Amino acid sequence: MATVQLKNVSKSYGSSMTVHDINLTIEDREFMVMVGPSGCGKSTTLRMVAGLEEITAGQLLIDGQDVTDAQPQKRDIAMVFQSYALYPHMTAYRNMAFGLMKTTKLSKPEIDARIREAAEILNITDLLGRRPKELSGGERQRVAIGRALVRQPKVFLFDEPLSNLDAKLRNRMRGELKRLHQELGLTVIYVTHDQIEAMTLGTRVAMMSKGHLQQVGAPMDIYMNPTNTFVATFIGMPEMALIPCHAAHGRIGHSAFVKDLPRAGTLPESVLIGLRPEEVTLSPTGMARARVERCELIGAEALIEVSLGSDRMIVKSPVQGAPSTGDEVGLDFDLTRMRLFDCGTGRAITVDV
Ligand SMILES: Nc1ncnc2c1ncn2[C@@H]1O[C@H](COP(=O)(O)OP(=O)(O)OP(=O)(O)O)[C@@H](O)[C@H]1O
Ligand SMILES: [Mg+2]
Repeated sequence: MATVQLKNVSKSYGSSMTVHDINLTIEDREFMVMVGPSGCGKSTTLRMVAGLEEITAGQLLIDGQDVTDAQPQKRDIAMVFQSYALYPHMTAYRNMAFGLMKTTKLSKPEIDARIREAAEILNITDLLGRRPKELSGGERQRVAIGRALVRQPKVFLFDEPLSNLDAKLRNRMRGELKRLHQELGLTVIYVTHDQIEAMTLGTRVAMMSKGHLQQVGAPMDIYMNPTNTFVATFIGMPEMALIPCHAAHGRIGHSAFVKDLPRAGTLPESVLIGLRPEEVTLSPTGMARARVERCELIGAEALIEVSLGSDRMIVKSPVQGAPSTGDEVGLDFDLTRMRLFDCGTGRAITVDV
């Protein structure tokens, strides 16, 4: 069993507050991904969980026990860093054994058994005799994960562990991390600024911005129902289009289209309609008129940037029959799940359509 609970956790450096009042529970065997742009406080939060950074205010519980002020080694947590932080003069085997020798009373054969088992899982048995400089980036990363695995901690913390790898290797390691999590039933907190990692790895995603938790939920829930425009545009590639509209007299209006709404009376005057690329189709008889500004071929499909008046959005199209720059096109919007946001606050507005 391992649950991690952050209760009103904040962090200040001097007079500036970096992490604001975080409330978050990571359940046993959960893969929680904390995602957000650079500088939003992800690593700081993770380091507070690890005990590498003091918690300014609030409480941290692991399995219900208050560990807010506990030493890192008393928390039964292992952390894997972006830089791997392997000892350069030690072999992979020694790197994995070192922590166990220092911090546990395990016998040599017991340590050896753990290392062999982890190496088997990570497919690095043949590399155990090599030093870090004799390993590729991906292999080093596996050794760093192996070093965490052999400790059999309650909780694994990962801080951008794949960001030094090329795209292909990152993709493969993502698959392996997912497999490890499922097969071994690990409890993981994983920090990244990469929304693809968040969407593919997380059983839940905690979205952060400027030290504040914005939304916590299953990846698809966050994708479909973002709580504000920040989350809406951070998750999803190409990003969700936000089109400013006027709401009045039971309808939403834009210079390029009009849509009736049964409950428009409850809306603020200015709203943003949020549309994902897959919710917009090119159609000669479409409800909105637009102009093609740019066309990007990305393999089987093309990304078409169109303008509606002074607003822009990206539409997907099969390469065959894709329009060209300067073309006039019609657009159809799938408004069955129309998202609306308040123009001023950016918060999602619930409305029946
Ligand atoms: N020791 C420190 N003293 C003062 N400010 C700090 C310290 N460590 C971090 N910060 C500030 O706290 C903020 C959050 O930093 P943090 O490293 O947690 O961001 P992050 O979300 O992990 O970003 P990245 O994706 O770039 O790693 C940043 O503005 C950073 O400058
Ligand atoms: Mg960081």
